[in-house]
Amino acid sequence: MTNTAQKKTVTLTDNSTGKSYEFPVIQGTVGPDVVDIRNLYADTGLFTFDPGFTSTGSCESKITFIDGDEGVLLYRGYPIEELAEHSDFTEVAYLLLNGELPTAKERSDFDYSMTHHNMLHEQLAYFYRGFRRDAHPMAVMCGVVGALSAFYHDSLDINDPHQRMVASHRLVAKMPTVAAWAYKYSLGQPFIYPRNEMRYAENFLHMMFATPCEPYKVSPILAKAMDRILILHADHEQNASTSTVRLAGSSGANPFACIAAGIASLWGPAHGGANEAVLNMLKAIGSTDRIPEFIRRAKDKNDSFKLMGFGHRVYKNYDPRAKIMERTCHEVLDELGMKSNSLLAIAMELERIALSDDYFIEKKLYPNVDFYSGIIFNAMGIPSSMFTALFALARTVGWISQWNEMMKEETQKIGRPRQLYTGAVKRPFKPLHQRE
Ligand code: SDX
Repeated sequence: MTNTAQKKTVTLTDNSTGKSYEFPVIQGTVGPDVVDIRNLYADTGLFTFDPGFTSTGSCESKITFIDGDEGVLLYRGYPIEELAEHSDFTEVAYLLLNGELPTAKERSDFDYSMTHHNMLHEQLAYFYRGFRRDAHPMAVMCGVVGALSAFYHDSLDINDPHQRMVASHRLVAKMPTVAAWAYKYSLGQPFIYPRNEMRYAENFLHMMFATPCEPYKVSPILAKAMDRILILHADHEQNASTSTVRLAGSSGANPFACIAAGIASLWGPAHGGANEAVLNMLKAIGSTDRIPEFIRRAKDKNDSFKLMGFGHRVYKNYDPRAKIMERTCHEVLDELGMKSNSLLAIAMELERIALSDDYFIEKKLYPNVDFYSGIIFNAMGIPSSMFTALFALARTVGWISQWNEMMKEETQKIGRPRQLYTGAVKRPFKPLHQRE
């Protein structure tokens, strides 16, 4: 634990015993202070109870800061708006992994590493063939990324900082290849190898859309848009999938297995799967005159339908990534000559209506990072089944940066929450003949 200033204490009084207990309050550099309750159970015999962790800080971190009320997102202190405008994904990946923006030499070395770790072991190509062609790309990503631990034995020692760095670089460098090959496999097209003369996002789009039959030129505008989208998705504090990676890593599991666990968690429609769900929702709405029907359903407690791409556990203001995503959406559609994109028209009208509706205003539900991304990917010709795979591609550097931060913690312990038990108390076994 960093020697952060200890500002004050809070007192817990147990009215049933009249006993009071003091707990230290720890102040970070910015954001809410935390009550250090590590001794709560030992001192009081009580657990905290916080399903969904709405009020729980699971760790100390220096990587990403979010202010949900102000709509602020910082990667290592740099505002997401400035990184999206002035940086590129490879530089942001270096920043997240190392804590500082690279010097020219550091950038050159990192570029070399990313370029020379982006191929997959040739036998992994056969691994894809075990899947049905219509397997969801996230199922393929879970399987292939977990399988990387069966190939890269020289970067599995989690106690060796060098091996942790090699595994981290391998994961960030290989993810575009893993994702693009999942798409190619679904098409029945041959895998396209990464090109060493191409930059990260351009290489990914080339592996997605090139064929061995003719040269394929990636649009610089689309490569820049994809690069910016990757930056926006790179990390996001202790979200569900990052917490999954940390918990998996706390047991000493290898980094490839931990990232596979993160991919599995991201897949859910309440999390990274929302971008695919947004596009399916916009297609189901079909036209702006049907929007009121879906708004009504989203507000109906008896209807499980939620407005996908809206709401956030932390942001109670506009998700700063969604603003940048909307601007990028217009740029891409202009570049592709798709100004009259019907899905965008529905999305913008849906946003306008929702943001003027008391239900969404009172519950502070704003568009999140997933609301516009699917429209961009769809316009680029990427199928909706690949949207969450792109999210996983981008988030891998955030996951592995958080994993590295945890592995370097001297006080790192296995994560083992407790529970509120409301099941049956101890009772004797009942033989079959005694059960009616
Ligand atoms: C991501 O954590 C992260 O940082 C995630 C992420 C990242 O970068 O890693 O930002 C990426 O996952 C973005 C979120 C993508 N998911 C969606 O767009 C799915 C739709 N959104 C909801 O499922 C929901 O808003 C969550 C899951 C995002 C947040 O859920 P919370 O914080 O648990 O809030 P909640 O479900 O308790 O909702 C509070 C209230 C509820 O109503 P009440 O029970 O209080 O009456 O708001 C309602 C909810 O019913 N509500 C919605 C809604 N989201 C919340 N009602 C309609 N439509 C919605 N989208």
